[in-house]
Amino acid sequence: MKKIKSIYIRRSPRKFSDKKITEKQINLLFEAARWAPSARNEQPWHYYYAPKKNTDLFNKMIDCLVPANKEWAKNAEVIILSVGSKIYSKNETPNVYYKHDVGAANAYLALQAAKLGFQVHQMAGFYAQKAIELLNLDDKKLEPITFIAVGYELKPEELSESERIIEFAERTRKNIGEFVTKL
Ligand SMILES: Cc1cc2nc3c(=O)[nH]c(=O)nc-3n(C[C@H](O)[C@H](O)[C@H](O)COP(=O)(O)O)c2cc1C
Repeated sequence: MKKIKSIYIRRSPRKFSDKKITEKQINLLFEAARWAPSARNEQPWHYYYAPKKNTDLFNKMIDCLVPANKEWAKNAEVIILSVGSKIYSKNETPNVYYKHDVGAANAYLALQAAKLGFQVHQMAGFYAQKAIELLNLDDKKLEPITFIAVGYELKPEELSESERIIEFAERTRKNIGEFVTKL
């Protein structure tokens, strides 16, 4: 049976190379996000992004992160903020599935990155109020969900031994039996 390869090569690196990510590649990430399913097809996601060469905004976005994330994410080539819309656009009622759906879109985006040969790393560790102010978000309607660092990961041989041990520690998951119940 055929597995989706991108699922298995996707990972969340903290060590990025300085290889550039093109505008075309970035657009493919958003194209993947675009096709995620969502409650009532609301598509309650919005993305703000800054490539590293847009230094001022890139740094301001990085500045929204908690120090532990800032430390490594500053070396990414692109920084994205995913934002969720809390209310349905058609009738302005609350959409309780907005975080779920932004998560789905972000998962699509992450798999597309892996398919293209680079990676993204999502972060919940950021100061939401800073992001709201930076991007002038209407927080009655919009909520920052995750920052997403984008870049080519450094290969194991490009890291020192101590970095390699941390960066390439075994990735673990629960067994299927731990989270699935056959009825
Ligand atoms: C919603 C969300 C929030 C996360 N927040 C952070 C974070 O603030 N800092 C961090 O280093 N990693 C963060 N991560 C990355 C996870 O730690 C990582 O996905 C998990 O350990 C599994 O590793 P993998 O993505 O390499 O499979 C986050 C991931 C998600 C999906």
